[in-house]
Amino acid sequence: LGAGMDASKLQITKTKSPKEKQAPKDLIFGHTFTDHMLTVEWTAKDGWAAPQITPYGPLELDPSAVVLHYAFECFEGLKAYKDESGNVRLFRVDKNMHRMNTSAERICLPEFDGAEAAKLIGQLAKLDSAWIPEGRGYSMYLRPSLIGTTAALGVGTPDKALFYVIASPVGPYYPTGFKAVKLEATDYAVRAWPGGVGNKKLGANYAPCIKPQQQAASRGYQQNLWLFGDEGNITEVGTMNAFFVFERNGKKELVTAPLDGTILEGVTRDSILELARERLPSADWIVSERYCTIKEVAEAAEKGELVEAFGAGTAAVVSPIKEIGWGEKTINIPLQPGKEAGKLTETVNEWIGDIQYGKDEYKGWSKV
Ligand code: COI
Repeated sequence: LGAGMDASKLQITKTKSPKEKQAPKDLIFGHTFTDHMLTVEWTAKDGWAAPQITPYGPLELDPSAVVLHYAFECFEGLKAYKDESGNVRLFRVDKNMHRMNTSAERICLPEFDGAEAAKLIGQLAKLDSAWIPEGRGYSMYLRPSLIGTTAALGVGTPDKALFYVIASPVGPYYPTGFKAVKLEATDYAVRAWPGGVGNKKLGANYAPCIKPQQQAASRGYQQNLWLFGDEGNITEVGTMNAFFVFERNGKKELVTAPLDGTILEGVTRDSILELARERLPSADWIVSERYCTIKEVAEAAEKGELVEAFGAGTAAVVSPIKEIGWGEKTINIPLQPGKEAGKLTETVNEWIGDIQYGKDEYKGWSKV
């Protein structure tokens, strides 16, 4: 079995040449990286080595490393925030570490102690905390990644791996306020399928989605609305979970797809469902994890029963949707007058922001 991941063994080598920081308003998502990174090597023989924080820089990999050939790679995305007292907070890192272990297990990469990994990520965030821009909407996006590094072309279980974390200061996803997007309902390409790995955060799930996105873009749509099956079940939107709000017989329903193995188990998705179940008055609201087809959405829109729609993910938190192209049909989704988002979309964004920035200490989700 070898040694477990152990944050107390961390060794830190600080950079001698700190980089210049950009003005926060000039940040482009995921383009700027901090001064340091975290690496933890693993071998089947010895387990997890002493974690290292070192200056940010290129990895050295053998060209035969299995990650480069057979996509032994899984990753996570989470954010560190600076609260009003200047404390660094990590939002629900335990959820990300749990999910990462399920991803790792699925592709025969080593599992690790999630609590130890979370401590290490916290150490990196604190060491580079001067890089976390302050203010609502600003944060540091953390990207843990786990790769198979065995230098051999045989297709089998990697006996060497590397867990590493890089950090990127980011600004508000929509610097000028929400910008509602147009989606193309996509059925000619499928993001995930039963028995597949759609519920795991594998890099290999992302590359094949770019071509369909380009095709949607060529027709004027920002993202794909991923459908599955003969019924046209709505699964996800772009790289985010999808939410719809219907209003029927005086009652509103918030709907997202159930976790049936084809849906990424989003931390933002989970947070929205929990908060909605707790905070939306049950006399007026139903919160559902159920299948919802593109046909249902189109019919609801025609009857005036479609209230709003949004994507949910770590990068943008929520992303309002204003239109869906479905074959010849255009489905219009209402926005509040003069605004680029529906009311619940805005509310949910506030709820989660308040927790992330430590204004609301809800269940200790945003840990100092
Ligand atoms: C998300 O946070 O919505 C993502 O899936 C992030 C993306 C950069 C992979």
